Amino acid sequence: MKKIVFVCLGNICRSPMAEFVMKSLTDDYVIESRATSSWEHGNPIHERTQEIFKSHEIPYDSSKTSQQISKNDFEYFDYIIGMDESNLLDLIRMCPKSQKHKIEAFASESVPDPWYTGDFDETYDRVLTGCKAWLTRLENEAKNG
Ligand code: 4NP
Repeated sequence: MKKIVFVCLGNICRSPMAEFVMKSLTDDYVIESRATSSWEHGNPIHERTQEIFKSHEIPYDSSKTSQQISKNDFEYFDYIIGMDESNLLDLIRMCPKSQKHKIEAFASESVPDPWYTGDFDETYDRVLTGCKAWLTRLENEAKNG
């Protein structure tokens, strides 16, 4: 089973949203999320992201807390997906050389950070579109080897 991790700055808004939206679309992958920073370490998913899960009936783990990506994570996961351009730059900087090929952009356009924009509905739209595109890509890769 391929292992996927979504990564944003705080691991309380965008990457947990991508984690649980993706889990609602498929059972075929190990899916988790992490932060590039330790700023929110141990804190729960942002209340507004939890409201998005409830309003769209997306099952989620309310005990999930923010966790910074680790050296082990870079080795363990097959796909390390940054939610925006600055997450990608941080990931490339943090990642051991031998694992850098695993780093990918979530979408061609960065997912705006709702921590700053306040627009969690826009984030959800972007996350849903991006997760569907990732699922199509992963299914094609599984088919074509
Ligand atoms: P996220 O949003 O990266 O989508 O989880 C943020 C959460 C917290 C902070 C910044 C962005 N912060 O500055 O603590």
